[in-house]
Amino acid sequence: MRFIITGGTGTIGRALASDLLSEGHEVIVLSRNPVKGKAFLPPETRIVGWDAKTAEGWVEWVEGAAAIVNLAGARLAGPNPFKLRWTAKRKNLIRDSRLHVGQAVSQAVEAASKKPKVVVQASGINYYATGDEIATEETLPGDGFLSEVCTTFWESSTAAVEKLGIRRVIIRTGPVLHPESGPLPPMVLQSKLFFGGPLGSGRQWFSWIHPADVVAGIRFLMDHPEANGAFNLCAPHPLTNAEFSKVLGQVLHRPSTFRVPSFALRWLFGEMSTTLLDGVRAVPARLQSLGYPFRFPEAETALKDLLASS
Ligand SMILES: NC(=O)c1ccc[n+]([C@@H]2O[C@H](COP(=O)([O-])OP(=O)(O)OC[C@H]3O[C@@H](n4cnc5c(N)ncnc54)[C@H](OP(=O)(O)O)[C@@H]3O)[C@@H](O)[C@H]2O)c1
Repeated sequence: MRFIITGGTGTIGRALASDLLSEGHEVIVLSRNPVKGKAFLPPETRIVGWDAKTAEGWVEWVEGAAAIVNLAGARLAGPNPFKLRWTAKRKNLIRDSRLHVGQAVSQAVEAASKKPKVVVQASGINYYATGDEIATEETLPGDGFLSEVCTTFWESSTAAVEKLGIRRVIIRTGPVLHPESGPLPPMVLQSKLFFGGPLGSGRQWFSWIHPADVVAGIRFLMDHPEANGAFNLCAPHPLTNAEFSKVLGQVLHRPSTFRVPSFALRWLFGEMSTTLLDGVRAVPARLQSLGYPFRFPEAETALKDLLASS
């Protein structure tokens, strides 16, 4: 079967592409820079260039495809570690990149005569802003910047495919624990340098997920025709930031008592510090009700698996 992954050169897309290829499927990755993208993907991947705005040049691949997985979008944190703040320009990029790729996917689905069976639309658990309350898929969205990105720009960008009769699955994904990208590497470094510990109060919730469950969860949702609508893609046992840093310290045999004060994070990162200081206590209620078997439901086993060679 043929699978199309937009933004497939990224953390989640690479893992998903490898998994699909290992089972003999055809994988088409849409990338703004196919030459650079080649280095990140197995050689059997077909990398097709696109402008991330229109369906031009890639609709032919959509004909008869099993699924389109729409993962493309600008990172929440910019590439320069000294310029992580959300400037107005960065916010526009975060919003517009997601809106435009989603609209391009909708256009391509509309143009294809043999349409894909399912569109998987990326989103984030930052859709919610519930503090200590558990967030299931029934929970209403928050009203901060990231909630607005998720609702108004990201999730709605491919809503049009539903009107064409295509099944759509939205994956509200939690922070992915990847050893080389995302939130884990700085936490591991901090811990290894004996500065591990909570951020701010440490009471904010951290709804993490192991990369293996991201891939298997997406595959499960694609394979189950009854799966429709939004799914929280995070482990069933979220921890507070303090609990998570304690488990990380135990796995790395380091203390976890150094607290980074909230004001320092606010001063350094401005509004982006909300991603560190305002947690979301999301649970994968709908995935579990469909019977998805989590490979890594507990943070300790997940971290031991990911950091085995650390
Ligand atoms: N990783 C996580 O912890 C996490 C958690 C929740 C949600 N998500 C979301 O899930 C999606 C996939 O996550 P990921 O970690 O794999 O992301 P990623 O590593 O940042 O990869 C996303 C891909 O999107 C493309 N891209 C970057 N900037 C773009 C822009 N301005 N316009 C269009 N395309 C752009 C890039 O591909 P090319 O350069 O090849 O075009 C990039 O490889 C993202 O949208 C992310 O926000 C991720």
